[in-house]
Amino acid sequence: MKWVRVNASRAYDVGIGTGLLDRLGVEIAARLHPQKIGLVTDSRVAPLYATRARAALEPVAEVAEFVIPAGEASKNGQEYLSLLSFLAREKLTRSDCLVALGGGVVGDLTGFAAATYLRGIAYVQVPTTLLAAVDSSVGGKTAIDLPEGKNLAGAFYQPSLVLCDTDTLNTLPEDIFRDGCAEVIKYGVLYDPALFAHLEEKGLGFDREAVIARCVELKRDVVARDEFDRGERQKLNLGHTVGHGVEAKSGFTVSHGKAVAIGMAIVSRAAAEMGLCQKEDRDRILAVLERFSLPVSTSISPEELAKAALSDKKRAGNTVNLILPAAIGDCRIVPTPVAQLEGFLKAGM
Ligand code: NAD
Ligand code: GLY
Repeated sequence: MKWVRVNASRAYDVGIGTGLLDRLGVEIAARLHPQKIGLVTDSRVAPLYATRARAALEPVAEVAEFVIPAGEASKNGQEYLSLLSFLAREKLTRSDCLVALGGGVVGDLTGFAAATYLRGIAYVQVPTTLLAAVDSSVGGKTAIDLPEGKNLAGAFYQPSLVLCDTDTLNTLPEDIFRDGCAEVIKYGVLYDPALFAHLEEKGLGFDREAVIARCVELKRDVVARDEFDRGERQKLNLGHTVGHGVEAKSGFTVSHGKAVAIGMAIVSRAAAEMGLCQKEDRDRILAVLERFSLPVSTSISPEELAKAALSDKKRAGNTVNLILPAAIGDCRIVPTPVAQLEGFLKAGM
């Protein structure tokens, strides 16, 4: 197993390895002293892992379990308020803690509830999807969706511990696992040619423990430099601005990971057309996405995509910050005038 230490406004450990779910109580007790633990999970994860999580937690504290329906639709204001009321009925105090057992939906909702219940109680992330393991469980972004858009209410609030049991990924449907692979590929393109080469060589058979730990280290470094997303952390949005457009325009029939893959492909082609990225690097990025059976194109027009990208919350005035690869392991934040966006996307289609 591997440990990564994150030094943000709250410092915490991220453990990655097999069988860690059974150590959940022991690892919490080494850091926190709750009398009661609010275990939050979803309706698909609960039948798979809640019994084991409870067995690990019960020697340490009383457990109160809250199960949300699986899926993004649960990351909403109503579910959030129900969770807060549940915690109040169960009389959790500020010395107690929450555990988020599940993917990014459970993690974001639980984190936001932890940030706001009693003005903040501790929480522990137990990611069970690849996306949650390499991205959402680390770095302290918590949020719920509003009817007006995704992640519009939230807080920066770091967990006290992250424990990723890599065995839990074995029950993920392959399609959802591949969605997480788009985020893993993103880290290679952003920061790490060796990680990228490992993915090129191994495809879906990559070394899970080593790769997740490497992605967490890379995210840890970004968060240490820009915890509150005022500069460099924007780079983690590689492929996301265009990807959000693809998700929205497809009526969310294209999943997040696949939309990000399409976004990475489009910005890589456009960056090569602009002369920013070598054509050889562009071709390697497209090839690795295809090796993971991720899509690299869309039938949505550049005009429609530009419109959707401009309604993204990352827009700043009359420019939109695009993250563009200059080489594998080296990406740039390029402020792009709104009026040039459609032409840019056309070059990448
Ligand atoms: P998810 O949480 O909806 O999980 C996907 C599906 O997999 C769900 O149906 C879930 O029940 C199921 N599942 C989870 N673990 C399983 C397992 N081990 N075996 C079988 N099924 C399992 O989706 P996700 O992709 O993990 O997360 C997406 C969310 O994460 C979005 O809401 C996104 O906004 C958020 N996100 C947050 C951050 C951040 O920094 N906070 C970063 C990226 C994404
Ligand atoms: N997933 C983007 C971030 O954590 O900033």
